Amino acid sequence: MPKKLYALAYISTATERLSTPEAIDALLVDARAFNRKCDVTGVLLHNDGSFFQYLEGSKDAVDLVYERIRRSLSHRNICELVSEPILLRHFSSWSMGFAEGSASELQAIAQAHWNHERSNLKGASHVSPGLKLLLHFWQNSKRCVA
Ligand SMILES: Cc1cc2nc3c(=O)[nH]c(=O)nc-3n(C[C@H](O)[C@H](O)[C@H](O)COP(=O)(O)O)c2cc1C
Repeated sequence: MPKKLYALAYISTATERLSTPEAIDALLVDARAFNRKCDVTGVLLHNDGSFFQYLEGSKDAVDLVYERIRRSLSHRNICELVSEPILLRHFSSWSMGFAEGSASELQAIAQAHWNHERSNLKGASHVSPGLKLLLHFWQNSKRCVA
C-alpha cells in the first residue's frame, strides 16, 4: 500500500551566511539532493532574506527533511504554517523548485489560511486558500529548474 502523503509549510528569515545568491544556490543543490533521496517534493520562495517553503512526501520523509531544515544555521525565526495529511502532491516534478517573489507575494502566501479545516466549505475543496495562492504564484512565476 502506498504511504500516506503529508505536507508542511513554514516561513523563516535568512542569517548572514545565506546573504548571497551563491549561498542560496549551494543550499538548493544540497537540499535537492537530499529531497530526491527521500522522495520529498516542494518549492522554496525567497524575497530579500525571507523564505517560504512547502514540502510534500511521506510523513517520515517530510519529518526527516524538516529536521535538517530546523537544524540549519542559515536561517532563524522558523514559523510553521501547516503540517497535515494531503491527498495528492502538487509539486511532484520539483525536488525543490525555487522562485524569487515580491515582498507582497510572500506576505500574502504566508498570511493566508493554510489549514483545510478552517477554509473548507462542506468538504468541497481540498485546497486551502494558502495553497491556492501558492499554486497561482507558481504557475505565473519565473521558476528555476529543479
Ligand atoms: C531556507 C532553507 C531551506 C532548506 N530546505 C531544505 C530542503 O528542502 N531539504 C533539505 O534536505 N535541506 C534543506 N535545508 C537545509 C540545507 O540543505 C543544509 O542542510 C543546511 O543549510 C546546512 O546546514 P547549515 O545551513 O547550518 O550550514 C534548508 C535550509 C534553509 C536555510
